[in-house]
Amino acid sequence: MILLTGGLGYIGSHVAVELIKQGYDVVIIDDLSNSEYSVLERLSELTDTEIYFELGDVRDITFLTGVFQRYQIENVIHLAAKKAVGESVHKPLHYYDVNVSGLINLLKVLEDHRVKKFVFSSSCTVYGQPDQLPVTESTPLGDTPSPYGKTKQMCEQILESVAKVAKHQIVSLRYFNPVGAHHSGKIGELPKGVPNNLVPFITQTSAGLRDELKVFGGDYSTPDGTAIRDYIHVVDLARAHVKALMVDLGAHIALNLGTRQGYSVLEVIKAFEEVSGIELNYTIVERRAGDLPEIYGDPSLAYKKLQWKAELGLTDMMRDAWNWQQGLAK
Ligand code: UD1
Repeated sequence: MILLTGGLGYIGSHVAVELIKQGYDVVIIDDLSNSEYSVLERLSELTDTEIYFELGDVRDITFLTGVFQRYQIENVIHLAAKKAVGESVHKPLHYYDVNVSGLINLLKVLEDHRVKKFVFSSSCTVYGQPDQLPVTESTPLGDTPSPYGKTKQMCEQILESVAKVAKHQIVSLRYFNPVGAHHSGKIGELPKGVPNNLVPFITQTSAGLRDELKVFGGDYSTPDGTAIRDYIHVVDLARAHVKALMVDLGAHIALNLGTRQGYSVLEVIKAFEEVSGIELNYTIVERRAGDLPEIYGDPSLAYKKLQWKAELGLTDMMRDAWNWQQGLAK
């Protein structure tokens, strides 16, 4: 049995599908703070499988202990965390509490149980603004201004220390920019309120839910002046989690999950317009505070260790994101 925390969220729901496809039994923990119960029904439909679900918070150690008593858990994939960079600046304690205390609680409970592997959802944000691109896992961790970014760095440091004494292996997966949705259109990103991230904002604008997209910054020193990111299809990302369970990776390893290919905001918009046939209403405005001009990652270590690489491209990401958005309106 795999324990999947945050399993009803955007990334978690896609990880659940890939785990089930590979024959794993899954128990999901989620507190529904940024997800909906209906995702569980959609997952059951999509996989034709019973998925165990426990409603609760990773900061609640009694709850976690109960889950470990009720299920025979062999591996843990820990995704339950807060992830909005801007919000973290306004609610730093909440971010440290959920992301850092939540991790510590879970690790404490694991001390009394024999699990094989602990997979942690980290982020390319740990690199800050790197001097050299693409970033590799040996690129030094940089200054990351947001409390969100700091929680990811702290969590990795905690895991590094714990790995020296823990019986389980630990894998920190450093995500670049996950976008897109499952090709079935049954699961995808469900942002609450106004989306912070680029692709949901694009799809909501095209669906008529937002007036226009604001492109943050047109004066970066990039070829078209807009910021560059390494977008990765969420299904590719999910597949890497499953692979991480399958191979021996030593006490603790951090792996980049990206594509090595950077795209500018305008290139993403263009790819979206091509797959949807819709001209997007956008204007270029001031830079967003805290944004990096450019980051993309070298995923070759993940290939070497997991035999994993991203298979889907920007067109697939845009097509599936749009398909998902259109399904929401039905
Ligand atoms: C950031 C974090 C990432 C975190 C993610 C989740 C970094 C390097 N990355 O990604 O770790 O997991 O947030 O929230 O810190 N943009 C617009 N208009 C919009 C929205 C975005 O132009 O309305 C631009 C941004 O300026 C950026 C790009 O689109 O250049 C991607 O932005 P976004 O999707 O928010 O992700 P990141 O900020 O790269």
